[in-house]
Amino acid sequence: MKFDVAIIGSGLAGLSVALHLAETRKVAVISKRTLLDGASSWAQGGIAAVLDSNDSVDDHVQDTLVAGGGLCDEAATRFIVENGRAAIEWLIAQGVPFTPDATAELGFHLTREGGHSQRRIIHAADATGHAVQVTLEQKVRNHPNITLMEHHYAIDVITSDALESKGKKSSPRCLGVYVQDVKSGKVLTISAEHTVLATGGAGKVYLYTTNPDTATGDGIAMAWRAGCRIANMEFIQFHPTCLYHPYAKSFLITEAVRGEGGVLKLPQSAGKHAGKRFMPSHDERAELAPRDIVARAIDAEMKKRGLDYVDLDISDKSPAFLKEHFPTIMARCLELGIDITTQPIPVVPAAHYTCGGIITDLSGRTDLPGLYAVGEATCTGLHGANRLASNSLLECLVLGRAAAHYIAEQPKQKVPALPAWDESRVTDADEEVIIANNWEELRRFMWNYVGIVRTTKRLQRAQHRIRLLKEEIDEYYANFRITPDLLELRNLVEVASLIVNSALSRRESRGLHYSRDYPETLPKALPSVLSPD
Ligand code: FAD
Ligand code: SIN
Repeated sequence: MKFDVAIIGSGLAGLSVALHLAETRKVAVISKRTLLDGASSWAQGGIAAVLDSNDSVDDHVQDTLVAGGGLCDEAATRFIVENGRAAIEWLIAQGVPFTPDATAELGFHLTREGGHSQRRIIHAADATGHAVQVTLEQKVRNHPNITLMEHHYAIDVITSDALESKGKKSSPRCLGVYVQDVKSGKVLTISAEHTVLATGGAGKVYLYTTNPDTATGDGIAMAWRAGCRIANMEFIQFHPTCLYHPYAKSFLITEAVRGEGGVLKLPQSAGKHAGKRFMPSHDERAELAPRDIVARAIDAEMKKRGLDYVDLDISDKSPAFLKEHFPTIMARCLELGIDITTQPIPVVPAAHYTCGGIITDLSGRTDLPGLYAVGEATCTGLHGANRLASNSLLECLVLGRAAAHYIAEQPKQKVPALPAWDESRVTDADEEVIIANNWEELRRFMWNYVGIVRTTKRLQRAQHRIRLLKEEIDEYYANFRITPDLLELRNLVEVASLIVNSALSRRESRGLHYSRDYPETLPKALPSVLSPD
């Protein structure tokens, strides 16, 4: 199959690139599940942008730099923030039903989240991502220049090296991607002048995560295997408030709950301390401190007192207010027997966002010509050592558009004929249980050894385990026919190795990376850049 542009991923990053390119280019959007599966559809809080005259680009930039612990790239941050308003206006023009507010300048309600000095989060109640994705889904489904390939799993990008091994010399370039049709198992060769990785983050490398099942770091692993540099992978953001309930898998309680007055308290199991508000003793910003501080405070309280969870209480707001602002959370909690109008919500921290990723410039270009990356899979310099809440959807929108504009300006490229996927030396797997076991083992030791608080010894243990798992999985990959589970496990192990190696290389504590062995922050902030050669 041949396209001008192959976009891997149908989250906000992928759909933004597709819609901005489709007027002039033939585009494929490849998605391993359905179009709406991915973190974008799950986003709750909203999108940060300067939308009120009391706010300013300088303030938003400053808040981002403060949260980023000295590691943000200021020029990249300014570029993204300056383009925020235009990005939101584009979404409004597409028809996204943001929550209205007749008293606001732009006519939409702005909420507040930790680390923001202003109310600047535009949202659609507490299901912003779903509202955005459903609106854009209609646009891409109806566009004649966009071919949608749902249930197609991108395995690896195809580089000119693949041709060199067949004796044809060419300069290094990405020429397309191998994709497995998940339903038939067949592997397709997709040739494309430009390939965009918009595959999202890697939260599934941890046992407890707010992320959907799609978040297995595929794009980061693919870019690494294709020779691209990866940066800042040690900065995994743990969201402080994931619902704690045996039947609730990965359900986030948005930070906007704290933004609107929710407070964190010790639960009944804390005995005589039950009901005590603890955040003010950890940080003067209390519940509105950046989320690394809140997550670490919760972790410390849980460990100190042997708690399974802490309570998040917003029951002093009226039921009408809660219903208007948090209808999704209210309904989900009620299904599980928690009435948030009268009861606190049990919460725990969980892996939420991958701040590092594939190094790109502000046009989405990676180290490999012809290969681009956008969204959570990237490291653009915006998030530094800790992402400011609601800056991520903003980055997807602004850089999605910038990458599309760059690609649209490029002259036509001729893509040579590509080799087909070679399955001649593999057989069907006999021991699927090995994959399930390795998945479980990897996610558990990443949680225990590479979590919120780290030590060198634990990181080294994890590194050793990863080495063994990698050998086993590589052997399995070489001998057996691929399945999505095997591909995801292979990518997760690669990403786990990048996280641990980055963490071991950082001999300080900064932002989201906290090491007991190196509790100080060094005077000079440097990114941790890993290079495949
Ligand atoms: P995703 O939306 O995750 O999309 C990735 C896509 O790639 C999916 O379609 C997936 O199926 C596909 N894919 C992956 N690998 C492959 C492969 N090998 N082959 C084919 N397809 C593949 N950020 C904010 O700014 N504001 C918020 O309010 C907010 N709330 C959040 C709430 C939750 C519960 C979570 C989990 C995250 C939240 N975030 C929020 C973060 C934000 O949602 C994500 O960072 C952002 O949506 C990432 O978008 P993306 O397009 O890069 O990736
Ligand atoms: C949230 O709503 O708390 C998530 C916001 C984000 O991750 O940016």
